[in-house]
Amino acid sequence: LENYPPGMGEIEGVALLKGVCDVWDTVYNFQARDGDIVVASYPKSGTTWMQEILDLIVQDGDVEKSQRALGFIKVPFLEMGHTSLEVANTMPTPRVLKTHLPIQLMPPSFWEKDVKMVYIARNPKDCMVSYYYFYKMDQTLPDPETWDNFFSTFLKGSLAWGDWFDHVTGWWKARDEHKILYIFYEDMIEDSRRELCKVMRFLGKDFSEDVVKKILHHTSFKAMKANPMINFSVFSESIFDQSVSSFMRKGTVGDWKNHFLVSQNIIFDNEYKKKMEGSGLEFRTEV
Ligand code: PPS
Repeated sequence: LENYPPGMGEIEGVALLKGVCDVWDTVYNFQARDGDIVVASYPKSGTTWMQEILDLIVQDGDVEKSQRALGFIKVPFLEMGHTSLEVANTMPTPRVLKTHLPIQLMPPSFWEKDVKMVYIARNPKDCMVSYYYFYKMDQTLPDPETWDNFFSTFLKGSLAWGDWFDHVTGWWKARDEHKILYIFYEDMIEDSRRELCKVMRFLGKDFSEDVVKKILHHTSFKAMKANPMINFSVFSESIFDQSVSSFMRKGTVGDWKNHFLVSQNIIFDNEYKKKMEGSGLEFRTEV
């Protein structure tokens, strides 16, 4: 573990927060139920956006019901362990649960039950930029120091929740064996209605135009940024210092161009080619 800064550990070779490693037995033994809906992703890929969409679909577009609790309470985060999982255990079916776990670390009960999973993936360059700002604002994460340092750590696969390449390809390969809907952040930015309809169909729901419009409105970047149930404004600056960067930061495709040096872009494209070749997965870095 000497390769990790304080506060980090690993499970089966995957870098995770020490807090997650400490409660790993509880997390791994979590009991899924038939009807559970999971939003899975590498961090900073649009998880919160998809989580709100899923919850609103489950609530048939009832915005008031969707505001029944803070986002991280109504959609328990698996890896956070005890508190989060106790809440999950008291929730009625269908539950929406969030995870950033790579597929090989998913608690086995998810494969034994009738569970639907939506995996949301984002192009790695924007994902890295978004994660950098999150690392800076989240006071519980190790200080990323410089962008250059963060860039190298991302490529080494040593950031919290491990290697981006393994994550996106692992879930991609499993999508036909299980009920996994694989969605891209860039597609959602390009046509949020089209992607919402895909998710609705996957969950067996069909809504009137009014309800679709309401869901789209409530899950727009602007509405979510202004929504105190979801924008992390309930947290103090000692946990999430949003004067450094807001949780709902930019919500765009292509911000990487403002951060990647020309030399970093060359290094990244080379690595990307090596690691993604033959995967059948394609990411757009602009729309
Ligand atoms: S987390 O902390 O890992 O769960 O973060 P996650 O929610 O996966 O990703 C955060 C990024 O998603 C952007 N976001 C959105 N973009 C467009 N529309 C909507 N509604 C939306 N909601 C969240 C958020 O701004 C983060 O991206 P960046 O690039 O940092 O802005």
